[in-house]
Amino acid sequence: MDSVIEVGIVGGTGYTGSELLRLLARHPRVRIKVLTSRQEAGRRADALFPQLRGFCDLSYSAPDPEALAACQAVFFATPHGTAMSLAPALVGRGVKLIDLSADFRLKDPAVYQHWYQHEHACPELLAEAVYGLPEIHRNEIRRARVVGNPGCYPTAVSLALLPLLEAEVVDRRSLIADCKSGVSGAGRELKLGSMYVEAADNLKSYGVAGHRHLPEIVQELSAVADADIGLSFIPHLIPMIRGMQATVYARLSRPDVDLQGLFESRYRGEPFVDVLPAGTEPETRSVRGSNVCRLAVHRPGGGDTVVVLSVIDNLVKGAAGQAVQCFNLMFDCDEQTALDVPALAP
Ligand SMILES: NC(=O)c1ccc[n+]([C@@H]2O[C@H](COP(=O)([O-])OP(=O)(O)OC[C@H]3O[C@@H](n4cnc5c(N)ncnc54)[C@H](OP(=O)(O)O)[C@@H]3O)[C@@H](O)[C@H]2O)c1
Repeated sequence: MDSVIEVGIVGGTGYTGSELLRLLARHPRVRIKVLTSRQEAGRRADALFPQLRGFCDLSYSAPDPEALAACQAVFFATPHGTAMSLAPALVGRGVKLIDLSADFRLKDPAVYQHWYQHEHACPELLAEAVYGLPEIHRNEIRRARVVGNPGCYPTAVSLALLPLLEAEVVDRRSLIADCKSGVSGAGRELKLGSMYVEAADNLKSYGVAGHRHLPEIVQELSAVADADIGLSFIPHLIPMIRGMQATVYARLSRPDVDLQGLFESRYRGEPFVDVLPAGTEPETRSVRGSNVCRLAVHRPGGGDTVVVLSVIDNLVKGAAGQAVQCFNLMFDCDEQTALDVPALAP
């Protein structure tokens, strides 16, 4: 019989941490041993999240490096800066880390410092960390001690552009990603912009001059293209709770290419990427609560612009679901364990 894997979750009161609880509650090999919150220490998780009643009887505790070191895997669902402060001690004790923040996504510590405005605490671990997008790095994730789980926008954008860049059928210097996210992308912490009256009945762009997700998209897609890429990435906030769409535009350099065939063959066998039939459009509600990225590829008017529509649930394939997918690879579980459920719609 397969052994039980004891895991810790740091940041179990946030939106991605509570989503990890929801998903891991159904994982046959996982026992959550440590669940942290500084503000809710001593309180039961199902008192905060009644949807977990009957699935999770754990209480929060303040983060304790000793307790976390006794786990086999620790998920960090915390703001950037937290995972890297504890990572060396935990990895040194043989714990595998999956960090949902940006601490282990960017290979170059100088790039990290530029975008996150503080020095990286453990560049040596950064060097060995693997970017947790299985559709690019599946085999490295299997062997990783530290996984930097991708951001939500980078997941939606990268999966839309990957087949085009690998096949070298677009001008890689003039890519455009026009993206929209639901408000849960900003986390559960109290912020003016996330309040109902501020976010409802409104559409707004943000980070147009430069958003922190840009460097990780550029890092990964430049490696795929084996050359620098040029990307205009424009995020928007829309008044919904979960879900995001990346609408990606690129100029075709090989107009004869069979785009539908290219996408279907690139993602054949991928358990969590669904290429829709030609002529259709995905909706965010079709992925709500599921780990699927649903894509459609178009060539409006038969011209030389390719448009890829890519939808994910920001909290699942964009965060906690992808983290569980990486965990499954790292611990030799079937990749779909705890993730093989259809979306919740309407
Ligand atoms: N929301 C998304 O859609 C999304 C998608 C992809 C990636 N991410 C990334 O995932 C991470 C978590 O996001 P979230 O939306 O779940 O955030 P959140 O809702 O604000 O939750 C943050 C959690 O971290 C804990 N925390 C905060 N500071 C901490 C510290 N210094 N030490 C230990 N614990 C700390 C908080 O609990 P206490 O303060 O009680 O300890 C809370 O449980 C972020 O890095 C975010 O960028 C989020």
